[in-house]
Amino acid sequence: MRRKILYGLVLVLVLIQFMRPSRNISNTISANDISKLYSVPDSVQHLLSVACNDCHSNNSVYPWYTNIQPVGWWMQNHINEGKHDLNFSEFGSYEPEKAAHIMKETAEKVKEKDMPLNSYTWVHKDASLSDQQIKLLVDWSNDIRQSIIQKNNLPPSNKY
Ligand code: HEC
Repeated sequence: MRRKILYGLVLVLVLIQFMRPSRNISNTISANDISKLYSVPDSVQHLLSVACNDCHSNNSVYPWYTNIQPVGWWMQNHINEGKHDLNFSEFGSYEPEKAAHIMKETAEKVKEKDMPLNSYTWVHKDASLSDQQIKLLVDWSNDIRQSIIQKNNLPPSNKY
């Protein structure tokens, strides 16, 4: 009985290896990429690349273990949810109110250390941000938010 359950589990583990999620990899930089529309200094771009873009852009880097299911599914789920809330590669497609709001959220999430996710910094050590790096990202998000508000003449509001 035990042996049958064990064989059954091994079989399931083998079979799910063939169910690979499609990859979030794009070879072109979208015209809506945030770097095409707003100033993204190299130091900020570096932080976005190492700490955010795996889940918030059209380009994820896949470490070897994400070839193993269900790890790959788990990562795919984070990518889907992360991109749904914020996709830096498609930032230009957001309405100004939404774009300003997202920058507010970005500053808050980074400041409160809600982002990047703990499960991510646990394996990606360079994504664990120092206080100085947090300040850099928070200041940058606030600047972008201000320029979105000014550029679009948005009325004062605490919604964004
Ligand atoms: C491992 C994947 C992953 C990484 C890396 C990651 N995020 Fe997220 N992010 C998510 C997921 C999943 C959500 C949606 C669920 C949630 O809010 O927890 C999210 C949501 C967000 C939101 C939306 C919050 C809201 O309530 O509207 C912001 C803003 C955000 N992330 C910013 C960032 C920034 C900035 C970084 C880098 C410093 C980052 N994230 C890194 C997965 C990730």
